[in-house]
Amino acid sequence: MGFPKNFLWGGAIAAHQAEGAYLEDGKSLSTCDVIHGGKGRIAEILDAKAIRKNIDAGEGYFPERVAVDFYHHYREDIALFAEMGFKVFRTSISWARIFPNGTGTPNEAGLAFYDRLFDECKKHGIEPLVTISHWEMPIALTTQYNGWVSRELIPLFEGYAKTLFARYKDKVRYWLTFNEINMTLHMPFMGAGVLVDDPAQKKQLASLAAHHMLLASALAVKACHAMLPKAKIGCMVASMTAYPYSCKPEDTWEKMRLERNNYYLTDVQARGAYPPFIKKAFAREHINIDINPEEEKLFAENTVDFVSFSYYSSSAVSTDPAVAGDKGSGNIFGGIKNPHLKSSEWGWQIDPLGLRIALNFLYDRYQKPLFIVENGLGAKDVPAGDGSIHDDYRIEYLREHIKAMKQAVEEDGVELWGYTTWGCIDIISASTGEMSKRYGFIYVDKDDNGKGSLARSRKKSFGWYKKVIESNGETL
Ligand code: BG6
Repeated sequence: MGFPKNFLWGGAIAAHQAEGAYLEDGKSLSTCDVIHGGKGRIAEILDAKAIRKNIDAGEGYFPERVAVDFYHHYREDIALFAEMGFKVFRTSISWARIFPNGTGTPNEAGLAFYDRLFDECKKHGIEPLVTISHWEMPIALTTQYNGWVSRELIPLFEGYAKTLFARYKDKVRYWLTFNEINMTLHMPFMGAGVLVDDPAQKKQLASLAAHHMLLASALAVKACHAMLPKAKIGCMVASMTAYPYSCKPEDTWEKMRLERNNYYLTDVQARGAYPPFIKKAFAREHINIDINPEEEKLFAENTVDFVSFSYYSSSAVSTDPAVAGDKGSGNIFGGIKNPHLKSSEWGWQIDPLGLRIALNFLYDRYQKPLFIVENGLGAKDVPAGDGSIHDDYRIEYLREHIKAMKQAVEEDGVELWGYTTWGCIDIISASTGEMSKRYGFIYVDKDDNGKGSLARSRKKSFGWYKKVIESNGETL
């Protein structure tokens, strides 16, 4: 019993939050290089004017431009992952390194970097799990096409994916098309490079962009299956566990409504069709998306091999105006605060059972193997006088979530391929741009203003996770 013998334990990062080297070896500016850090970051991402100004003027501190300089530290970092016993390492490829302008011939220096990276993983017996697009793209795709709103991006992405499959065919066996595709609906610039000038148009533009991403995702799945018959390609969704605040039927209906809206894109990727309720909603709300029979065929014939997801927290839903105003902070799903749960320093509610619920929910819904590709606690770490970091809060969070995951596997029979904790080395936070929101087992000396030596050091959780992996999840 317990976890299967070949269970893939590891950690995850994304290119833009870790690599830095933003204009090196032919890479162009990408969409994430023009967002400032700090509390106002989400508001900035939603403000087309502010982003345009950043693209033109580029003043101030842009945290992703240097990040934790993984581009130059990857050998040292992968050696540390190997010391913990990682079986798998999830990262993404920066589209702007491979196609700096989004079109034309691929940039050899960019391709060569990922060759070196994957070779280094292989040297340590670590399997790469690669996200083709994790919340970034060459800035030209925003300035010329307004991102995924344009159909033009479909063949460009298909070409990009095929370039990666051909180049890394012997090095990468696990692929993901888009990171958290559902977040496009909430943050169209971050998720899809789309600038929304008129807020009234947000739903139309975001839904259309997501439709184009679904088409591109299906084409990538098709190409992967044709070019790499032994590889596995999955989708990736930000999972949502929400509880009805009361047993009023309306609250349960509201929870179901939120849930369905959260998963309809994954329904297309994993089941091969838009569910009827969303087509009705598009018609009712005058969301104009032309889904033609050829596209429906493409979706039906090219579903993913597995469903991957992120899970950090859960929320509650209520139709009662008296409680509905109590939103947990950092909450983009529209849920409210659950009084039965504690929160992280950033207001993300901590709920290990919610992970077991998410695993069962997704397995019931899709009946495909699952992969948890993000989970973890963003917390402030304060080094002690001797520089050591006693991050017992992180160990506690991960321990409880791994227990829940184990129950889902052992007692509920969920088929789970692996688990990669988020930000296994400290990286830039996606929602705040801060360094101080840390998830890692490995501390990186850098602050929210970009100051620090970038030196790496092991936190207490480093040794703990090593034992978890060594014992295949038995020693927690
Ligand atoms: C996920 C993203 O939504 O959450 C990551 O895929 C992100 O890119 C992670 O970093 C954690 O969020 P944050 O804002 O704490 O970095």
